[in-house]
Amino acid sequence: MKALLITRDGDLQAELAAQGAARVPPLSLGACRSSIQDALDRPLPDQPALVIIDASELDDNDAAHLERLAKHYPGASLMLLTRAHHQELLIRAMRAGVREVLQLPLVHRALHEAIDRVAAAAGVTNMRDGKILAFIACKGGSGATFLSTNFGYALAALADKKVLLIDLHGQFGDATLYVSDQKAAMTLSDVCRHIARLDAAFLESSLVHVSPGFGILAAADDPSQAVELKPEHMDAILRVARQHYDYIVLDVGRQIDAISLRALDNADVIYPILQLGLPDIRDGRRLLDIFRSLGYPIEHTRLIVNRYEKGGKLRLQDLQSALGAEVVHTIPNDYIAVTDSVNQGVPVLRLSRAAPVSRSLADLVELVTARRVVENKGLFDRLFGRADADQ
Ligand SMILES: Nc1ncnc2c1ncn2[C@@H]1O[C@H](COP(=O)(O)OP(=O)(O)OP(=O)(O)O)[C@@H](O)[C@H]1O
Ligand SMILES: [Mg+2]
Repeated sequence: MKALLITRDGDLQAELAAQGAARVPPLSLGACRSSIQDALDRPLPDQPALVIIDASELDDNDAAHLERLAKHYPGASLMLLTRAHHQELLIRAMRAGVREVLQLPLVHRALHEAIDRVAAAAGVTNMRDGKILAFIACKGGSGATFLSTNFGYALAALADKKVLLIDLHGQFGDATLYVSDQKAAMTLSDVCRHIARLDAAFLESSLVHVSPGFGILAAADDPSQAVELKPEHMDAILRVARQHYDYIVLDVGRQIDAISLRALDNADVIYPILQLGLPDIRDGRRLLDIFRSLGYPIEHTRLIVNRYEKGGKLRLQDLQSALGAEVVHTIPNDYIAVTDSVNQGVPVLRLSRAAPVSRSLADLVELVTARRVVENKGLFDRLFGRADADQ
């Protein structure tokens, strides 16, 4: 996809060129003009798909020319970058048909999401709009790996979704072993090492395929290779994954490092997994405090209680008040079905469909797929809505 950029700011030009080049497929800055007038005086021979206008130095004269520019490039989407939400300018922009307004300095994730929308509208890609669901254990052995792998399988099997699971355990990642007997030929660190080759086909070929709709990207099993992993790699992998999978499930493990943090930053929903006991609640509170300090909205954090047994001394209500977060689901303690599944490396749903734990996973699939995780915001909301809507 080609873009025309209108700015006097060399740093912004370099930033956009770098972000555009990192996309799959790339967004190339076909040309740069210093003002709208300059763009009108020196039109491009080919229609760009996107015109990005730096409005931080836009004067009234320029603003008046916005509509002319839009008419000149009727096939292009217009994107405005502003330092302040200047009401009058925004109204003019809407009249001119501007589709996207982003705040400067640029938040890269918001930029890529906006470009995704433009690309989808232009029919450049037939992208999916995958949701990232992170499973994180509050305490060792809470069941995050069992649940994330079996939930991923259930999503693909019961809801007919295309699902990718990424095993983010820094060391001793074991997600593939829970649901498959295949050995991973490629791991997360292999993908990062060849990040320049990353596209949908490369990602798909790096997976352990558990079923036609469900693949797992195995953890980096050799700690010495972990140096290859950089937070930017996580962004790139998740960006490609969102375009080609309906759901990306993350088995985050317990350690919060630069990589898992970047993955969590990208998550639409975080599911901390815990059991109903005081040590789990203590660790859960610590984890949620970390999320609060990182500015994650609490409504995106939804607790799942694993190995739940009714009638215990602690009630779900006590847990919710102690942690200040909602328990969205409970998974029953189902020792026999789970142990059989884990020991054989076969998804519990395939092994014992009628087991209580399988039925509970099916309920979770329904819960997740019935409500859209993040509602798409309309243009008006994006123009005038909360700034963090685009973060
Ligand atoms: N609902 C359940 N009922 C019975 N047993 C369970 C249930 N969920 C998990 N288990 C058992 O708990 C064990 C630990 O689960 P799992 O490995 O998924 O935990 P984890 O949170 O990923 O731990 P780690 O901190 O090691 O990554 C599993 O081997 C499984 O046998
Ligand atoms: Mg685990």
